[in-house]
Amino acid sequence: MPLADMPALLAAHRAVGAFNFITLEVAEAIVTGAEAAGTGVILQLSQNAIAFHGGLAPAAGAALRLADAAHVDVVVHLDHATDEPLVDEALAVGIRSVMFDAAHLTDAENLERTAAVAARVHDAGAWIEAELGEIGGKGAHTPGVRTDVAEAVRFVEATGVDALAVAVGSEHAMRERSARLDETLIAELAAAVSVPLVLHGSSGVADAGIDGAVRAGMRKINIGTHLNTVLTAAVRAELDRDPDAIDPRRWLAPGRSAVAAEVHRLLDVVIGRVATEVRA
Ligand code: G3H
Ligand code: ZN
Repeated sequence: MPLADMPALLAAHRAVGAFNFITLEVAEAIVTGAEAAGTGVILQLSQNAIAFHGGLAPAAGAALRLADAAHVDVVVHLDHATDEPLVDEALAVGIRSVMFDAAHLTDAENLERTAAVAARVHDAGAWIEAELGEIGGKGAHTPGVRTDVAEAVRFVEATGVDALAVAVGSEHAMRERSARLDETLIAELAAAVSVPLVLHGSSGVADAGIDGAVRAGMRKINIGTHLNTVLTAAVRAELDRDPDAIDPRRWLAPGRSAVAAEVHRLLDVVIGRVATEVRA
């Protein structure tokens, strides 16, 4: 399929799974999982993952080629970009969906820089997600931190962004799926904010919480750490099973299969194909 556009992907699904990849095998697994689920997907490449690879081009090129070859719609998305030149570089290589993350700036600076970047992204015909910023001096995706509805409305109107990452109880890099989301706040935000809402730190949210968040109005569900957990567990099990293995394909193949199966399972939850357990 040709590279998909984010607005069309979002319009075609009640919500879309957005999965971060670091290695090629995980990117392949995300596409394979989406094909098995028969649904579109977002392949996310973060600024940190790009730094690990020493630059944007190799990983972005692989993701764009995987999207072209996929049998389902795939959007390639630049995630958590804090460097403005990286946003411009992503647009130049053909990425049409970016998150500009200016949460480390003051609210006024965040608004000013996000508006400027949004204008450039829109001039390039691309889509931009942003984050309101730190709240009460703490990172937005921290338990106890919540996005203020009126501030969210003002930020979106003032910046012109196409989607907003909001703080509703999740936290980045959780290893246990124990976060409790504020579904009432999600519903209030969804009703008031004119653009799709994005849930970050979804690795810490159990299936029922993801389903509840989507029902309340979340449209893009970002999952990264959980796939790392699945990959590493499968690789570790294979190396324990066969300590003499040295060909990376021997231990990467089971890791890749495990990630693909988990992506398929999670996408079924995100799109509402499976009933989730009753919430306490
Ligand atoms: O932007 C990416 C996500 O927010 C991933 O967060 O690694 O905690 O799932 P996570
Ligand atoms: Zn995030």
